[in-house]
This record gives sequence, structure tokens and C-alpha cells, in this order.
Amino acid sequence: MHITGSILVTGGAGFIGSHTVVELLAAGREVVVLDNFCNAKPSVLPRIRTLAGRDFTFQEGDVCDKGTLESVFRKHDIGAVIHFAGLKAVGESTRLPLDYYRNNLSGTIGLLETMQAFGCRNLVFSSSATVYGDPAEVPIRESFPLSATNPYGRSKLMVEDLCRDLAASEAGWRIALLRYFNPVGAHPSGLLGEDPQGIPNNLMPYLLQVAAGQRPFLEVFGQDYPTPDGSGVRDYLHVVDLAKGHLAALGALHGLQGAVPINLGTGKGYSVLEMIQALERTVGHPIPWRFGPRRPGDIAQCYADPTRAQELLGWRAVLDLDCMCRDGWNWQQSGAVAQI
Ligand code: NAD
Ligand code: UFG
Repeated sequence: MHITGSILVTGGAGFIGSHTVVELLAAGREVVVLDNFCNAKPSVLPRIRTLAGRDFTFQEGDVCDKGTLESVFRKHDIGAVIHFAGLKAVGESTRLPLDYYRNNLSGTIGLLETMQAFGCRNLVFSSSATVYGDPAEVPIRESFPLSATNPYGRSKLMVEDLCRDLAASEAGWRIALLRYFNPVGAHPSGLLGEDPQGIPNNLMPYLLQVAAGQRPFLEVFGQDYPTPDGSGVRDYLHVVDLAKGHLAALGALHGLQGAVPINLGTGKGYSVLEMIQALERTVGHPIPWRFGPRRPGDIAQCYADPTRAQELLGWRAVLDLDCMCRDGWNWQQSGAVAQI
């Protein structure tokens, strides 16, 4: 890696961030995590230290607070930033758009201003496949048209646009806009994973709770999509693979010019019914489900063309669906879900 100094990881206590911090520490990086615990718990921090066998700096604070950001940059020699901090629930974003624009957009503007002031122009940003809207075809390439249908998606698109504008205005910025597809699974240790608050919106956390007997059945949203079995198709990606994608992006930043969008997905699509079958193989018993209506705003199919990630980052996903199910189920069963 050509980047010197510490890596600032905003949102490093969250689902993807915590896995990424473990990988960064394992690679010998000095790490500073900034998180306000709005969607994470402090108990994740000692788990990261246990898994990495190394310490890191933690600063509790809000990425929207310029004073906190400036103090982090003053205290530490930050060579690059991985920016996870933000709100991510699509439904909630339609009810609380201002919260989403403040956290995701204003937070990023303040971060970029601070980076500029301290001469740090290396950024890895958490974008999302949601910026492709309803794609005309699959697999999805980075050159496809972009659109957004809800405030969450619009906040990601706006941040991508402002990164492109910033990079065009001033030489030296190297920004990887990582467009994640559907991150699932957990750390194989059972110590890190996703702990959604309330009723999960996403398929895998919900399905795991049904498999564990905590919910009566899964409702499959739609049976008449133009897909092989009629249910929605997505590109599910193991969170450990995704975390490693961030290290690959850091390592490749020096070769990027400006703000470059890069898909992080496996390139394979699985339907909701295939996901149920895969988890049934893992848990060894049937998982109750029934068809329901389509969920408003859902698209039929979404999976990546991952060629650019392979070419620019030298990264590709290696963990398969059974591994995603096994590690997700291990996390669900470990009890860590409830404690974290
Ligand atoms: P997460 O909610 O688990 O992690 C986000 C972390 O950021 C949390 O620890 C939260 O406490 C922190 N945070 C939020 N707002 C903050 C603020 N203003 N100041 C400081 N800390 C703040 O989410 P995740 O699944 O790990 O997602 C990480 C990023 O990836 C997000 O930007 C999300 O939009 C993006 N993303 C996630 C998915 C997904 O399916 N999980 C898909 C595409 C993109
Ligand atoms: N699904 C069900 N039942 C459920 C939950 C989901 O059938 O209870 C189906 C959905 O209809 C979809 C698939 O499972 O076909 C996956 O749904 P998720 O909610 O897990 O994921 P999405 O692809 O809809 O959305 C996710 C993130 C968004 C992000 C988008 C694109 O939640 O934030 O991927 O990256 F924008």
C-alpha cells in the first residue's frame, strides 16, 4: 500500500466498518475509528481488538461535527479515510429525509472540507448499488445510468456527484466510490455481525430470525417478477469479502484519477427462494415462508458486473453462498447478536 499514516474509519463500529477495521489491523495499518453509536454498540470495540490482537484509536463523535473531525486530523496523521458513517434504511429515509441528508450529505461535506484543509485527498466511500435505480439490464456495469427513488439513494447519488465535482475542481483527489451490492454473513468467529434494530428490513437478517424461531415465517415479496422463479434476484456478498475490498481499494488508490465508481459484488444473482433453500441446507430444517405482494420500490434483478473491481483493485469475492449462510447462522446462534 502506498498510503502512509493512519486510516480514519468513520462508522467503524458498524456492520461493514467493524469487519473492515479487523482486516486493516491484520494488515498492519494504524486505525482511528470515529463513530457516534447511533447504529452500533460500544461492546463491538473489544471484539475487534480481540480478533485483531491489536489496538486502535477510538473517538466517539459525530461526523457532522466539524470540531470533532478537525481534532481527529490534528491529533493523528491521517493518510486516507474510509467513510462508512451514515444512515442506511430506505423506508426510514422517506419518513426522515432531513436526518438522511444531514448525516449522509452534510456529514460528508464537512469531512471533505476537513480532509482538504489537512491536505488528505485519499477517500474510500461507501456508495451503493441503489444508485443504479431500476437498471435496464443485468449484470450492471459502472457506466449504466444513475437514478434514485428515495432520500437514502439520493443522498448516495449526491455524495457521488459532489465527489466527482470536487475531484474535477482540484487535482490530487483519489476517491473510490465503492458501490456495494447486498452484504450478508458475519465474521466466522461469531463475534461480529449485523444487529438490526427492531424488525429487520433486509432479507438475510429476517430469514435468520425465522430460522431461529424468533419470527413465524418469511414473507417473500412478489412471485411474478420476470426472473427464473418469479422472486427477486440480488447479488449477495459476504461481508468479509466486502471488508477485503476496502483494503484492495486503499492499496489501489494511488493509481486512480479523480472519483472512480467501482462495483463490489460477486457477479452472481440469487433469488429469494434460492436464498431460503441455501439457508435450509445450513440449518438442516425447513424455514416457513409464504408469498406476499411485491414491496413498493423493489426491482426484479440486481447483480454486478465485477470486472472493474478485478481490473483496478485486483479484488474479487471468493466466499460462496453456503459460507454466507453458515457464518450468518453462526452469528445468529452465537448469542452475540443479543449482547452486542
Ligand atoms: P451500519 O449502520 O452498521 O454502520 C454505520 C455506522 O456509522 C454505525 O456504527 C453508526 O453508529 C455510524 N454512524 C452513522 N451516522 C454517524 C454519524 N453522523 N457520525 C458518526 N457515526 C455515524 O451500516 P453498514 O451496513 O455497516 O453500512 C456502512 C455504509 O455502507 C453506510 O454508509 C451504508 O449506507 C453503506 N451501504 C450499506 C449497505 C448494506 O446493505 N449494509 C449497502 C450499500 C451501502
Ligand atoms: N425480501 C423478501 N422478504 C423480506 C425482505 C426482503 O422477499 O422480508 C426480498 C426483496 O423483495 C428483495 C430481496 O429479498 O428481492 C433482497 O431484499 P433486501 O431488502 O435484503 O435488499 P435490497 O436489494 O432491497 O436493498 C439493499 C439495501 C439497500 C440498498 C440496495 C442496493 O437494503 O439499502 O440493497 O444496494 F440500496
